[in-house]
Amino acid sequence: MKVLRALGAVSVAPLLLFLATGAAGSPAPAPRQRFGSSNGPIRGVNLGGLFVLEPWITPSLFKQWEGGGDRRVVDEWTYCSALGKDECRARLTKHWGSWVTESDIRTLAWLGLNHIRIPIGYWAFTVKDDEPYVQGQLPFLETILGWAKKHNLNAILDLHGVPGSQNGFDNSGKFGRIGWQTSQENIDRSLQAVEAIAAVAARHADTVDAIEIVNEPANWGLSMDGVLDFYKAAYQRFRAIAPGTIMVIHDAFLPPTEWERFNVAGWENVILDTHNYHVFVKDRLTMSRDDHLAATCQDAASVRRFNTHLWTITGEWSLAVTDCARWLNGFGKGARWDGSLDWEMHGPVYPGATCAGQSNITAWDQKTRIFFRQFAEAQMDAYEAGSGWFFWNFRTEDADDWNYIKLATHGLIPVPPSNRVYSRYSLATNWWDIQLKSQWCHE
Ligand SMILES: *[C@@H]1O[C@H](CO)[C@@H](O)[C@H](O)[C@H]1NC(C)=O
Repeated sequence: MKVLRALGAVSVAPLLLFLATGAAGSPAPAPRQRFGSSNGPIRGVNLGGLFVLEPWITPSLFKQWEGGGDRRVVDEWTYCSALGKDECRARLTKHWGSWVTESDIRTLAWLGLNHIRIPIGYWAFTVKDDEPYVQGQLPFLETILGWAKKHNLNAILDLHGVPGSQNGFDNSGKFGRIGWQTSQENIDRSLQAVEAIAAVAARHADTVDAIEIVNEPANWGLSMDGVLDFYKAAYQRFRAIAPGTIMVIHDAFLPPTEWERFNVAGWENVILDTHNYHVFVKDRLTMSRDDHLAATCQDAASVRRFNTHLWTITGEWSLAVTDCARWLNGFGKGARWDGSLDWEMHGPVYPGATCAGQSNITAWDQKTRIFFRQFAEAQMDAYEAGSGWFFWNFRTEDADDWNYIKLATHGLIPVPPSNRVYSRYSLATNWWDIQLKSQWCHE
């Protein structure tokens, strides 16, 4: 079933969106219906590591630079600049044709998912002479969208990297500086990329129901006024090309209270995307297993609060409770868990903490397996308090705690996702009517 069909009934009120004032003192709005509600929550995975390389997802592509050698190769930008355009194009073309296959898409549908989120960098649409990136992604994107349609999956296209980098993460395509807002040219080229993505969406209107216009803009390195201006400009640009397509905006890592100040409550045809990881900040990373489960209840509360204003999805989450996946924190870098990454932790999370076996499903004992299954169910409960979720990632080469297909086929993620054995959700027959409450939450 296509969520888009359900949206056919939603009246499209384009520019009203940004005229809303959300005047102070107006009564609190009722919770929204969920996006695509007649078809149940969004349940999906990200196709990460495909059009935007991340060393930890596909370490085989980066192995040649391991252990000394050329330490400059840390992201797609430096990958291509080290190899040169011809060799980079040859390797990436091979990668684009093999990292996601029709068999994978069929598997995702068989696992009970109804959506995929497809990250792609601006350079698939616009490259300047002095940029090392190569092109050729689009025919592969078109092919994947064809498979998605065939196997009844809907898609969100996600602009994951913009010129200058919106967050300095390797997964923006360019590690280091947050330079997106340093020139008008960067903004203009981002808008061109949004328009190009909208054209793809328009050609696949029965499969692509939404476009995320920029992933994870970092509030700490950007002007939020500038980010909001970009959201408004992007909305107008792509709605002209792909009317009926929903705009997804990322929360820029800001809590619901901040978004309430931005007066977004009247925005229409907009989904807010929030990401939930447990391994990148100290207070989550050092939690006990029980605390990880309990923390999902706080996240559910946050999703509910967001969801009173805008449809809300959790566009990225995983089962990781350590940051031990090799190169997760950047190519060649260590982990906070065992003290081998010395950013904010000073030493390991507890004396003798080791990364050995943490991302290796074969090494997990029965207690650990049960915990991961509970953690999966607790998070699904939490994110279905909004419009649903996308796990990161559909697959990884090595990092099993981030590998949906592997976790699901080993029984650590429910198949289909509604098949919950630990959560009370499994007792619910109509997810739409009930106020989901996880057994881990004491409210
Ligand atoms: C994963 O764990 C198993 C069992 O402990 C071990 O035999 C295997 O070598 C490990 N794999 C990796 C890649 O470390």
